[in-house]
Amino acid sequence: MIRAVVRKGIDHHGHSILGFRDGWRGPIENVWEELTIESVRGILPRGGTILGSSRTNPFGREDGAERIRSTLAEHGLDGLIVIGGEDTLGAAARLGAEGLPIVGVPKTIDNDLGGTDMTFGFDTALQVATDAIDRLHTTAESHHRNLVVEVMGRDAGWIALHSGLAGGADVILIPERPFDIEEVCRLIRRRHERGRYFAIVVAAEGATPVEGTMETVAGTGVDEFGHARLGGIGQRLEREIEDRTGYETRTTVLGHVQRGGTPTAFDRVLATRLGVAAIDAATDRRWGVMSALRGQRIELVPLEEAVAELRTVPVEDYEAAATFFG
Ligand code: F6P
Repeated sequence: MIRAVVRKGIDHHGHSILGFRDGWRGPIENVWEELTIESVRGILPRGGTILGSSRTNPFGREDGAERIRSTLAEHGLDGLIVIGGEDTLGAAARLGAEGLPIVGVPKTIDNDLGGTDMTFGFDTALQVATDAIDRLHTTAESHHRNLVVEVMGRDAGWIALHSGLAGGADVILIPERPFDIEEVCRLIRRRHERGRYFAIVVAAEGATPVEGTMETVAGTGVDEFGHARLGGIGQRLEREIEDRTGYETRTTVLGHVQRGGTPTAFDRVLATRLGVAAIDAATDRRWGVMSALRGQRIELVPLEEAVAELRTVPVEDYEAAATFFG
């Protein structure tokens, strides 16, 4: 994405481009570096970001917006291209509404931004989770165990649903659909009755039980955007499933492994296309928009639309996946 913005911005449009470090911290504290054709060489297959990231919220401090505005003025910048998910772009939309010239680009493994059919990062995380499930499958089968795999995704079940489908999970639990632990155990028992002495349960970190059916897990601590740190549902499920069914059950928490490593070809292409559209939009001074994938095409959508509502898993997608449970 950064490479696309820099290459097209400099070579085609004749811009100078600065990169701010660590998300919103960069323009707030005026920490930057010049981005050149040279400095973005070789980054296409690199995951993460050469600029660093943080959970800094510009509205977490009184003068955040003002400081960003003066940083832009100090460098004589025409505008800001902001890359991120719900929190980063939520702040971008607010700053845009206050008159700051901003173009957004949708990047999050959670795939939960409105206005775009897909965010970049998702496909790579999905591939990591699917590879892990494939590996866990073979050991689960050999050892006649249930294996619970906890994946990320925050309040959306996209990674769980798609990796569970691709990896042939026997149960998939997502935040959008509170689960009944007895039903989970019934599906596992049914597999045993059919002579399959192992099961793979893929649980999104945000999956929650139907109220009153199982002890709930509270997130620990909140970030600057007020989001709880999720995780722990896998361990809870491990204990409940083993206690209720009597079958040995273990958990694997994939965690930040899903956010690292080499991006898939799909993500590289998507990020490049979104980046090209973003620098073109900025050149045309079309502020307050986000480059987005709509069907097979890249389009510009209002930033507000992108952050108005989370894009969660539709009921019918989950129902289709449930066909393969147990
Ligand atoms: O939003 C991306 C994400 O990876 C979520 O899936 C996860 O809940 C969260 O970030 C983890 O955040 P951190 O890296 O701050 O622990």
